[in-house]
Amino acid sequence: MRIILLGPPGAGKGTQAKLLVERLAVPQISTGDMLRAAVKDGGPLGGQAKAYMDRGALVPDEVIIGLVRERLQAADCARGYILDGFPRTVAQAEALEKTLGELRLNLDHVLYLDVPVEELVERIAGRRTCRRCGAMSHVRFSPTRRDGVCDVCGGETYQRDDDGEDTVRRRLAVYTEQTAPLVRFYEGRGVLRRIVGTGEIGEIFARMVQSLGG
Ligand code: AP5
Repeated sequence: MRIILLGPPGAGKGTQAKLLVERLAVPQISTGDMLRAAVKDGGPLGGQAKAYMDRGALVPDEVIIGLVRERLQAADCARGYILDGFPRTVAQAEALEKTLGELRLNLDHVLYLDVPVEELVERIAGRRTCRRCGAMSHVRFSPTRRDGVCDVCGGETYQRDDDGEDTVRRRLAVYTEQTAPLVRFYEGRGVLRRIVGTGEIGEIFARMVQSLGG
C-alpha cells in the first residue's frame, strides 16, 4: 500500500507513521528524518540542507526529489511505503506522480491530518526526540518516566533545532503557502481522506485505519 501522510508541522505525521508501519509492515519514508541523518553525517547534502531547515524553509525541490526517487527504488519499498513529509510542494507531488507512472504504480491514499494551529504549536514546543533510537515523547502529553531519558532505549532526548518558537511560526507559514495547496491537488485526484487529528494518539490511529478500509 502506498500512502502519503499530509499535514502541517506537529500534526502527528511521524507519530502515526510509526503505528502504520507496524500495522501494514511497509517502511516509513520521512524526508525530515533523512535530512536530519544527512546533517548528522556531516556530508555535502547535510551541509546544504541544514541552512534551510534551521530557518524553517523547505530544502530545494530538486534535492528532495532526487533523494526520494532513489529511496523508492530500494527493495523494502516493493510492497509499498508511508511517505511522511513528502511531497511538500506541487512540484514534488508532480515528480512523485511521474515516478509512479513510470513504474505503473498508483498512490492508494493520502491521509490529511487536520489539527488546529494552537495545538500544533503546543505539540511542537513540547516535543522531545531520542538521539539514539528516534522515539518521540512530549513533555506534557506523553512524558518520559525520567526527564531527558528515552523510555524505549535509555538514550538522551533532545529538542530539535528547528522547534524554537520563531522557526515553528515560519514553518507553519511555509506550510500554508507551499504545502496546503496539496490538499486540493489530491482532492482532485480523488485520493484524499481528511482525518480529525485531535484527541488521543490511539483514537486518531483508529480513524486512520478505518479510512484505509479497516
Ligand atoms: P519534518 O521533519 O518533516 O517536520 P514537519 O513536517 O514540520 O513535521 P514535524 O516532524 O514537526 O511534525 P509531525 O507532523 O511529524 O508531528 P509529530 O508526530 O512529530 O521536516 C523538517 C524540515 O525538513 C522542514 O522544515 C524542511 O526544512 C525539511 N524538509 C523535510 N521534508 C521536506 C520536503 N519534502 N521538501 C523540502 N524540505 C523538506 O508530533 C509532534 C509532537 O506532538 C510530538 O511530541 C508528539 O509526541 C506529539 N503528538 C503527536 N500526536 C499527538 C496527539 N494526538 N496528542 C498529543 N500530542 C501528540
